[in-house]
Amino acid sequence: MAMTGRIKFSLEDARHIGDMIGVDWSQVDIEQFRIGLAVELEHGARDPATDVTHDDPLLTGKIALAHLKELPDYYTRLTAMEAEAEGQPKPVTKILVIYASMFGHTKVLAEAIAEGAGAVADTMVVLESVDDVEPDELEVADGIIWGSSGIFGEPNPKMATFFSKLGRLWVHGSLQGKVGGVFATTSTPHYGLENILRALQTPMQHHGMIIVTNAGPNTPDRIAYGCPYGAGAAIPVESDRSAPMNRPREEEMELARQFGARVAQVARRLKTGR
Ligand SMILES: Cc1cc2nc3c(=O)[nH]c(=O)nc-3n(C[C@H](O)[C@H](O)[C@H](O)COP(=O)(O)O)c2cc1C
Repeated sequence: MAMTGRIKFSLEDARHIGDMIGVDWSQVDIEQFRIGLAVELEHGARDPATDVTHDDPLLTGKIALAHLKELPDYYTRLTAMEAEAEGQPKPVTKILVIYASMFGHTKVLAEAIAEGAGAVADTMVVLESVDDVEPDELEVADGIIWGSSGIFGEPNPKMATFFSKLGRLWVHGSLQGKVGGVFATTSTPHYGLENILRALQTPMQHHGMIIVTNAGPNTPDRIAYGCPYGAGAAIPVESDRSAPMNRPREEEMELARQFGARVAQVARRLKTGR
């Protein structure tokens, strides 16, 4: 009497199964029993780890009967509970993207990171210049991604000024367990980009943050333009001051979007388990 894949039962099916396991219909509401068969079978259909009955209708019926013996309206209550849970607002993962920029190049990369993070379900992203960010904002974030342009192989000193304001958060361990990621721009690929990314990670380690790497599938684009420490872009200097601002290459922007999404996904999973 296998009913593989079937999760709908007619009243007639329910009566037949109930009769086979000796249900006393004067004690058990047949509609409740019918719903119970579908609900209990669904556990296995949704997740093999919770598949107890292997779609066996008699075993499924016994589970439904056990519940109905405890609470005659068990399945009405369950349906109401599920509806209530559906209506609950889902927890939102907050990601703060902070950039230190002189002329706007790093802001463009930060925007790609924010876009990627924002594409992750149930995620709220705030993108802010390091000039404006207040330490309190870090406390309410689940994930923090900070980045800077390079000045002689080191992050922009604006980052150091910002870090110097985080003493209170360090004392209270406010950032411990939060998810972190870093990004940087320079004008050349080999004049300090990796060093800047590494330098930006160090304060995260002091604060006990969980640093997300920028490793991923070794596609030709990632091998050519990626960096395992964080998102990066080498943006050539404009030919003269009046020229339009150069932007990261599209490959760098795409890797930055992926990085933003990766950090947001890790933060979301740690926060919600999803
Ligand atoms: C004073 C100064 C020092 C710089 N040092 C470096 C450097 O060491 N390596 C590099 O590749 N680019 C260097 N650059 C270039 C910037 O890092 C690069 O143009 C960056 O993308 C600027 O981003 P921003 O407009 O967001 O500040 C330097 C620029 C300035 C003004």
